[in-house]
Amino acid sequence: MNEENLSLERLQKRIAASGICSRRAAEKLIEDGKVTVNGSVITELGTKVSPEDVIAVNGKTLNIAKKHYLVMNKPKGYITTLSDPQNRQNVSMLLPDMGHQLKPIGRLDKDTEGVLLFTNDGDLINKLLHPSYHVEKEYLATVEGCIQPKSIKKLESGLFIEGRKTKPAKVNVKHVDKDNNISTILITISEGRKHQVKIMCQMVGHFVKHLKRTRFGSIQLDKLKPGMCRLLTKPEVEKLKNPKLISTIIK
Ligand code: URA
Repeated sequence: MNEENLSLERLQKRIAASGICSRRAAEKLIEDGKVTVNGSVITELGTKVSPEDVIAVNGKTLNIAKKHYLVMNKPKGYITTLSDPQNRQNVSMLLPDMGHQLKPIGRLDKDTEGVLLFTNDGDLINKLLHPSYHVEKEYLATVEGCIQPKSIKKLESGLFIEGRKTKPAKVNVKHVDKDNNISTILITISEGRKHQVKIMCQMVGHFVKHLKRTRFGSIQLDKLKPGMCRLLTKPEVEKLKNPKLISTIIK
């Protein structure tokens, strides 16, 4: 399914989501010829509409879709997609029904857990994922081997992935377990390249055994249990929208 298809939804669902009536009642309104989309009467129940379409019921234009913002603690084993032809476990199965199709802001690997934001605010998604907008993402990584200052320096100053140097990162060593030959590090990056943390760690000789995103911008994982979601508060949404309010450890 492409990005455009994802934002399409059934007309009756959109009408119901505006809060004026139930989905069943919306279907009746459509069949009775009371609904227009961009000025044309629509009586076909399967009609799909995009967020840009102007919908009117009995001549009255519906309010623009309410914006929803939530954070999920994505569990391991779920893929970051909203539909899967093979019906594998995916994050849409964990989302509450908000009456609108919420999309993930970026993605996490199947075996990565932690903070994954969702919204139907396309402007915010585009903004946060734009390469010029360096949102910090913090990961707790358990890696093989006892990490040395030399490796930390390399991770922090940047490594070449597919010919492009990674932006400066910040690494805090949380624990080095010499007996079991593993280290736990908190790594903060400001890009979202595919498998970035795993590749960076692998490049300095440390295979990532376990990865958890603990923060995206100003949104922390806190006590959210794996598989659970919570709505963001208004101040949290404002902070995400306003780059000046997002702390910048990385310059
Ligand atoms: N880096 C990775 O390697 N995997 C993720 O899921 C996120 C960041």
